Amino acid sequence: MADAAVPVLTIDGPSGSGKGTISLRVARILGWHYLDSGALYRAVGVAAGWADLDLGDAGALVRCAFDTEIGFREDEGGDLRVLVNGHDATAELRTETAGAAASAIAAIPEVRAALKDRQRAFRRAPGLVADGRDMGTVIFPDAGCKVFLTASAEERAERRYNQLKDKGVSVTIDGLLREILARDARDANRSVAPLRPAEDAVHIDTTGLGIDAVVERVLALLPPRTG
Ligand code: C5P
Repeated sequence: MADAAVPVLTIDGPSGSGKGTISLRVARILGWHYLDSGALYRAVGVAAGWADLDLGDAGALVRCAFDTEIGFREDEGGDLRVLVNGHDATAELRTETAGAAASAIAAIPEVRAALKDRQRAFRRAPGLVADGRDMGTVIFPDAGCKVFLTASAEERAERRYNQLKDKGVSVTIDGLLREILARDARDANRSVAPLRPAEDAVHIDTTGLGIDAVVERVLALLPPRTG
């Protein structure tokens, strides 16, 4: 059972703002659990693809959201692997196709509702770092510390380009920029849980900042640790 007394740090922001990298680093430094909520939406999107579901069939997607088994584990190198229905789908989940499918199904209110309890169940002692779009606004509105990360769209496209290039995927910066802008617009304009900062979130613009500098700024927001 999720425990409301367990501290939560939420890190929300648009795609490519560095949420994932920063959240995982901060969680490791603090020794807290980590929730990559985007991976849940991506996993449902990928499972829907495997089952050949129509992305317009809300009922089938909701059933898929309830039925899909999603597991996380760390590999020997310390990287997070995501298991979908028992298969390691980490690489497939990171593709732009999976991101676009996730963004489409994430706009369906019943799919979001189906994933709510699963996300809240990650709140376990000694603490949770939760990364996504609506962590501070909808899933953990009572979080003690909320961050909203941004970066210029151009820099986000460039980061994504470098990540994919390292993995040998052939893409263009212009193509990525278009996809990022389209996904931002869809995430910000949907009627349920649109991408927007919580009123009490601290904004950090990561344009031109290295990972360590952002991690330091986030850690400085937390109350000093005792013991
Ligand atoms: O963060 P990531 O890029 O993996 O998320 C993929 C998609 O899942 C986002 O574009 C967004 O539409 C959706 N998402 C969401 N709410 C979250 C996390 C992700 O709607 N908390």
